[in-house]
Amino acid sequence: MDKKLIVIEGLDGSGKATQAKLLSEALSPCLKVRQVSFPDYESDSSALVKMYLRGDFGNKPDDVNAYAASSFFAVDRYASFKRDWIKDWEEGVIISDRYTTSNAIHQCSKLPKEQWDEYLDWLFGFEYDRLGIPAPDLVIYLKVDPEVSQDLLKVRYQGEDKRDIHEKDIEYLRRCREAASYCCEKLHWCPVECTKDGQMRSIEEIQQDVMALVEKLAQRNS
Ligand SMILES: Nc1ncnc2c1ncn2[C@@H]1O[C@H](COP(=O)(O)OP(=O)(O)OP(=O)(O)O)[C@@H](O)[C@H]1O
Ligand SMILES: [Mg+2]
Repeated sequence: MDKKLIVIEGLDGSGKATQAKLLSEALSPCLKVRQVSFPDYESDSSALVKMYLRGDFGNKPDDVNAYAASSFFAVDRYASFKRDWIKDWEEGVIISDRYTTSNAIHQCSKLPKEQWDEYLDWLFGFEYDRLGIPAPDLVIYLKVDPEVSQDLLKVRYQGEDKRDIHEKDIEYLRRCREAASYCCEKLHWCPVECTKDGQMRSIEEIQQDVMALVEKLAQRNS
């Protein structure tokens, strides 16, 4: 497999970083694999994302409209692609923890449902066609039940509150969940069920399902 982009997507704390790392490790003995993640907080290109998430433009996600906020995240991806992984993509497989798909989830949720299709057309046209960053070959969506998700976040945010403006807004997170279900279906993302009987499945079980999807992609291309 070369020139492949596999995206691990999911709501907050769903295990994206964990699964992206395991997938990269599993593939790297036989393929040229590069792992990336967004936002690219280490890079100057994420300056506007940081300003937005810490509330410089307003304390609520809705203070910055879907299109403006999307552009902050999009240019960060453009910079990262151009500077950092264009060659790796041409020669191998990129595993990305979040991507344009995160804009789809987190920015659709700011718009009324009737406008989601229009926004999604704009978003993918902007990032993949106009900016020219690659479209994913496979989007794996880590699906977590809402109750389990809340428990995970509660544990995470005990003590000092370091939540960004997205994470603090419960109603906004509910809308993101709805947008994510919509996108998953409309855009043919591949869901992986991460919960069972009100609990997270084990990291290994989830990884097996992730691997099965990647193997299917490899077979399609062989
Ligand atoms: N299946 C699982 N069961 C239990 N804990 C898990 C599972 N997968 C990941 N975790 C743990 O949950 C926490 C969040 O995981 P991770 O950082 O991979 O999620 P994320 O989706 O990247 O989060 P964020 O949205 O904050 O970037 C970590 O402490 C991780 O070890
Ligand atoms: Mg993460």
